[in-house]
Amino acid sequence: MLLSAANTHDIKLFEPLLHAVPGVRGHRHRELHGRRVARHIDTARAVDCQRIHAIVALTAQEQAAAAAEPDSQAPSGAEAKGEAEQMFRSRCVVCHGEKGLGNGPGSTALNPKPRNYTDGTWQANVTDDQIKNVIMYGGAAAGKSPIMPASPDLQSKPEVVDELVKIVRGFRPH
Ligand code: HEC
Repeated sequence: MLLSAANTHDIKLFEPLLHAVPGVRGHRHRELHGRRVARHIDTARAVDCQRIHAIVALTAQEQAAAAAEPDSQAPSGAEAKGEAEQMFRSRCVVCHGEKGLGNGPGSTALNPKPRNYTDGTWQANVTDDQIKNVIMYGGAAAGKSPIMPASPDLQSKPEVVDELVKIVRGFRPH
């Protein structure tokens, strides 16, 4: 197919070929590749088989490079820390209190009270995994008060959960 198409000088015939390259998706991509072919034609005034092969190889290289790019959605350590701090203020302080004493404004009617993070005995006996579980799945799932809410959205953000554990651990008395 490449060979027979290469005998013509009409760019229009080559465009669909490039679009058929697996993974070359999206309007912008197509536009770019279309332009690249057009540039080749302008300079060479003719399209030969080699050139088309080279262009197709180039798109494959670009795909590989794009696939190797790190996932820009994954938060950096600093971003996860910031997100956790913000979350702690917006989701936890209302019950656990600014100072982690378990006496936030939402705690007054609760029985049992929200955990006092400054309780050294509790800190010494609870594992990081237990803290993570109660944060993601809530108190009920851990045999604790169902008032301690789950944050299911954090199941896909382990780095933010780790930072929340660090915040809780930060109230440990010295
Ligand atoms: C609606 C009030 C409320 C909110 C909001 C809340 N908690 Fe709690 N939390 C509780 C209560 C009540 C308990 C005590 C459960 C028990 O002892 O049975 C608790 C217990 C805990 C414990 C101790 C679990 C254990 O193993 O003893 C941790 C850790 C904790 N919460 C973390 C958090 C974090 C982090 C947030 C924010 C993402 C949060 N909580 C939000 C009410 C709340």
